[in-house]
Amino acid sequence: MKAPDLFSTDAPPAAARPREAVVLTHMAEEEKTEAAAWLRERGYRIVSSTRVANLALVGEGVAQNDLRQICAITGKAMTWRELKASRPSANASVTVVAPPLREPDPEPLFIEEEDHVTLAGLVLPKNQHASPLVPPAAQFAHLVIDQPLAETMRAIAVGVVHGRPVALEGETAAAKTTAVLYLAHLLRQGVRRLNLNGATDAGELVGRFAPAPEGGFRFVESVLPQAMRHGEWVLLDEINLAEPQCVERLNPVLEQPPTLILSENDGTVFGCNGDIPVHDDFRVIATYNPAAYTGRNALSPALRSRFHVHCAKAPGLQQDLELLRRLVHGTQPVVTLAGRRWQADKAQPVYASIADWPEADAFLAALAKFHNHVAKAAGQGGGEASLGRDRSERYCFNRRSLLFLVAMLDCALRDGTDPDTALRTAVGDVYLGQLDNASDERAVIRMAEACGLIRPWKDAA
Ligand SMILES: Nc1ncnc2c1ncn2[C@@H]1O[C@H](COP(=O)(O)OP(=O)(O)O)[C@@H](O)[C@H]1O
Ligand SMILES: [Mg+2]
Repeated sequence: MKAPDLFSTDAPPAAARPREAVVLTHMAEEEKTEAAAWLRERGYRIVSSTRVANLALVGEGVAQNDLRQICAITGKAMTWRELKASRPSANASVTVVAPPLREPDPEPLFIEEEDHVTLAGLVLPKNQHASPLVPPAAQFAHLVIDQPLAETMRAIAVGVVHGRPVALEGETAAAKTTAVLYLAHLLRQGVRRLNLNGATDAGELVGRFAPAPEGGFRFVESVLPQAMRHGEWVLLDEINLAEPQCVERLNPVLEQPPTLILSENDGTVFGCNGDIPVHDDFRVIATYNPAAYTGRNALSPALRSRFHVHCAKAPGLQQDLELLRRLVHGTQPVVTLAGRRWQADKAQPVYASIADWPEADAFLAALAKFHNHVAKAAGQGGGEASLGRDRSERYCFNRRSLLFLVAMLDCALRDGTDPDTALRTAVGDVYLGQLDNASDERAVIRMAEACGLIRPWKDAA
């Protein structure tokens, strides 16, 4: 029996070697026979497996989901009608150039059901117990679900599903805290948040004796035992600012299953065979800046290895523009996770007033570019700083600056200020205000002019 194409080792002569290996799928038999003859005549190679094809020919009625999966493997798909319409020559030695890839629509990034949420195909149960510690929706009215945020949320979700503690490493304003809180909001999950610093002691994690109303002292449990009892997430922000001996107290809590002995009190044991069972929904999520930041302690390998670690990427120019479009138009970008394309639903614009400007989109592009230039010049993202070169501390321009500028602008416009003045004032307050010398100010003004954000500053009334 002749071996199927998939295993064939006889390469055709170079001159006649067709460029496309085509798989015919989801087609009616008759259509398939016709298409196969047509393709062979034109030098295409027909293969029986999608995995070895670089073009899929599909039937008209193929379902979107199937088409997505086929495309994810072959990179290209088209219908028989589309291929015929490209009118390739019937000369066997000529390679047919396929029409452009028909890109399937992105899939919905979040699908909300009564008892669970699906995040990029990952099913996450919703917490069924109401808690005042669930982050409220109002915190996320401005959120753009861009590539870095989607990746970070997925990493947290993977840890949560598998019962692993999660650690998020990344620069300041890389959406680490936001990712945790937004996922908790979607899952109706209560979060106890603790900002660690050099003065944090074990008492803040586990509890300490405090004066009792009835006189004397009593032990008051802190975030860890409380969350273990009630099934909350504990968010330990800036974990590497705390002293190592304080953080090491976490080690047994990060084990699977977690345990904790309240040695500070009466030796109550939380966890396996202890006095108090640990709630199933209890999780620990930590965030930290890279150890290169001043004042940060490197996490010990023993501690790091207990976490599912994810590096949250800082937003770049594209993400800054996507944030602005989200704020003004409500649109969410397409993201790629696990080789598939996803998109969050369109949201309510926050600053729709700006969308009415005659050249709103050009303005948003100029603003994103300006912000990106300033942030880079200030050394954000780790590069050499041209702004604030002589300072020991770098200027700090990140998403918070951009969000603040747009909020100021919107406020001024609604108060009836003309756009040009509103923009100059906001740039002056948010960006120039942070600079400590005239030369840096001139440099930032030149950036605003070069990006087309403002007319030359000297023209201002
Ligand atoms: N994807 C996003 N969309 C809108 N705002 C964002 C986004 N990511 C971060 N921000 C904003 O940027 C600021 C810093 O985010 P945060 O999550 O606190 O960063 P980190 O914890 O990494 O330092 C916050 O004001 C937050 O609202
Ligand atoms: Mg944070």
